[in-house]
Amino acid sequence: MAAIIYQREGIQVDALEGTNLREVSIGAKVELYKALNKFLCCNGNGDCGTCVVDVVAGEDNLSDRTPAEQRMLARKPKTYRLACQTLINGNATIQTRP
Ligand code: FES
Repeated sequence: MAAIIYQREGIQVDALEGTNLREVSIGAKVELYKALNKFLCCNGNGDCGTCVVDVVAGEDNLSDRTPAEQRMLARKPKTYRLACQTLINGNATIQTRP
């Protein structure tokens, strides 16, 4: 079991290792999206970039960036991830809506 700390929300969520960060976040009712992007997003296909999060700590406990992330986040900080493309392998601290 991994602990995901959502810094903005001030909560910790336990997640099974190997689970998807977007799915864990939605299951915990953590808002990943700004404004109407919740309704306009690509629903986790890695095509819209709206589920971006900043990994404050535990970057090594997450899966490597996927090709979709390398494309969408090429000009963003290295700590930025697309939640829908990120698998949880251990504890991490996340800043939503950076
Ligand atoms: S939901 Fe569209 S890139 Fe993650």
